[in-house]
Amino acid sequence: MRIAAGSDHAGYALKRVLVDHLAGLGHQVDDLGTTDADHSVDYPDFGAAVGRAVAGGRAELGVCVCGTGIGISIAANKVPGIRAAVVHDTTTASLACRHNHANVVCMGGRTTGEATAIDAIDAFLAATPEHGRHDRRVEEISVLEQPGAPT
Ligand code: RB5
Repeated sequence: MRIAAGSDHAGYALKRVLVDHLAGLGHQVDDLGTTDADHSVDYPDFGAAVGRAVAGGRAELGVCVCGTGIGISIAANKVPGIRAAVVHDTTTASLACRHNHANVVCMGGRTTGEATAIDAIDAFLAATPEHGRHDRRVEEISVLEQPGAPT
């Protein structure tokens, strides 16, 4: 699978752990930055870059990490077509795929340990989107992005 990864400085170390893990599983991982933990950068730049890679078809999945996963998920979710989910463990990761059809997985480098993060991304990859009522709800999210949607 082609995977785009991104982080700010606070998520850099955990992102690298996840990038190495995913590459070790045979995935083609494109790290869109940032490139170190020592220089403060702005998480919206990297959430947007990952979101655009996924929405533009250059990656099938995005992985984002900031301090909490929250800010970078908010940024990624501003890209039309993106469903970015903050996950904390195997349960939330699996459900983000099965129920929310998430296409960007976000985690917190300051809130989630390495082993838990690896277990979570593995759980996401092992899960399969569920259909029926979940398709309807995901479609309702897409409608919110359409021009003319109520504000
Ligand atoms: C950076 O200090 C921090 O605010 C950021 O990584 C993230 O946690 C924001 O949501």
